[in-house]
Amino acid sequence: MSFALWTPLLGISLLLLPLLLWRRWRRTRLPSDPPLDKGHIPWFGHAMEFGKDPAKFLSKMKQKHGDIFTIRVAGKFITILLDPCSYDAVLWESNSKLDFGKYARILMERMFDVKLPNFEPNDEKAILRLTLQNKNLSSLTKAMFFNLKTLLFSDQNQQWKEGGLFHLSYSTMLRAGYLTLYGNEEENYDDPSSQDKDRAHSSEVYNEFYKLDRFLMRAARSMLTTVEQKEVARIKERLWKLLSVERLNCKANKSSWLESYKKHLEELGVDEDMQSRAMLLQLWVTQGNAGPAVFWLLLFLLNHPAAMAAVQGEFEKVLGHRGQTVKQMHGISQEMLDNTPVFDSVLKETLRLTAAPFITREVLEDASLRLADGREYSLRKGDRLCLFPYVSPQMDADIYEDPEKFKYDRFLNPDGTEKKEFYKRGTRLKHYNLPWGAGINTCIGKFHAINSIKQFVFLLLSCFDVELKHSNSGIPEFDKERYGFGILQPEGDIMVRYKLKAS
Ligand code: HEM
Repeated sequence: MSFALWTPLLGISLLLLPLLLWRRWRRTRLPSDPPLDKGHIPWFGHAMEFGKDPAKFLSKMKQKHGDIFTIRVAGKFITILLDPCSYDAVLWESNSKLDFGKYARILMERMFDVKLPNFEPNDEKAILRLTLQNKNLSSLTKAMFFNLKTLLFSDQNQQWKEGGLFHLSYSTMLRAGYLTLYGNEEENYDDPSSQDKDRAHSSEVYNEFYKLDRFLMRAARSMLTTVEQKEVARIKERLWKLLSVERLNCKANKSSWLESYKKHLEELGVDEDMQSRAMLLQLWVTQGNAGPAVFWLLLFLLNHPAAMAAVQGEFEKVLGHRGQTVKQMHGISQEMLDNTPVFDSVLKETLRLTAAPFITREVLEDASLRLADGREYSLRKGDRLCLFPYVSPQMDADIYEDPEKFKYDRFLNPDGTEKKEFYKRGTRLKHYNLPWGAGINTCIGKFHAINSIKQFVFLLLSCFDVELKHSNSGIPEFDKERYGFGILQPEGDIMVRYKLKAS
């Protein structure tokens, strides 16, 4: 088409644009739409209340409108679906209607400055899934065991030490998890000088990452001040150096996850600078949740003596007849790790209470959504659709009695087997606890994460005495910024005392 023809078309489009925007602002509910709640502030809608405490706000909206409704948040219309019986209708819908990658790409760029050509999250997941599961799982589990021992038993002193439980959990899990996936400084795990190097390097990575983590939620929402943006840029520069291709190439014991991810980036034609950025993004994806999960789990155990006794009894039973001390062990077999129904229930209950990711889709074309009870609603192109399993099923009083309370045996049947039957108003639920996401949004590191968490708690409780410094410290509030991004973090840390047991 010639330029002469373009000019009047462009003019008409420019005239139409305000009209289109006006129609969008003036949006009214059609009979087939979900209940619409635009809030009172033009354009911003519910942005303030939603941003302040999403869980509280969405629970309030659920009481007002039911389990599906559309809200306006900073110019965007977001349909929230809170009926777990209907989640499958979204989770398995094709990417051409409800797109998962668009929002992921926005976040990758905002949080980590990562832009990958032809990035397709589903393809990437398919490539990496195998490297974290099946036959690769046992080598990851073994490597994690050695790396945890390197970090936990560096000091043989049997004096009491004090520290924050969050710091202890997050730093140990992130450092050991990082060494397991990204490799060690040298090949021999048992060599003391190589262990020293691993401890020093992983501590540097954790310290920088922890500084960055404080800013990530506001970076995701584009809310950093100019001063903060500069600080974040400096921290990222240091982390990119620590995770540079050059440094990673020199490492020993690299996981097949790392090798496959690197190859995948090379095949996409990504240059070395962008590869380091992508490595930092992956550090967050793979190590951002397990440490905080361990913190909550240990804190619940320390606050519930019956749960602690049940978990310790189970660990002793699994180990009991093997006549080995934990420190002498060279690993924990998958058979032993699979034989802990009490611990599994404790972990599920911990994650039910503290995992709060959003599952988000961009609506690419006008579509209709059929709920499990037969109701049908239209979805409008350009809107966003969001599931929030934390509100339902996880904290739903129709499903769980006293949903806000920690009950360590909630996921156990009276005969000690795993409880899988949960009902909402008489209907048995397929999705009753979704900390790992679901459908194409399921965590591909789930089995490695469970093994890692179990090994850390097992080593800590078997080899150390751990106590709350103040027996009345209770359970801290959640940092509300973190709703939507995985495992929640506490507002403040809880002090504990710990000491190596006499062997
Ligand atoms: C308690 C610990 C963890 C929880 C609760 C958790 C949960 C999740 C959730 C909810 C997702 C989102 C799925 C999606 O929206 O597509 C996810 C993705 C993922 N997780 Fe985990 N995760 C945990 C630990 C881990 C660990 C230890 C690893 C690694 C080894 C890992 C690797 C991944 C990967 C690679 C993805 C895909 C991210 C993407 O789509 O780009 N996760 N995880």
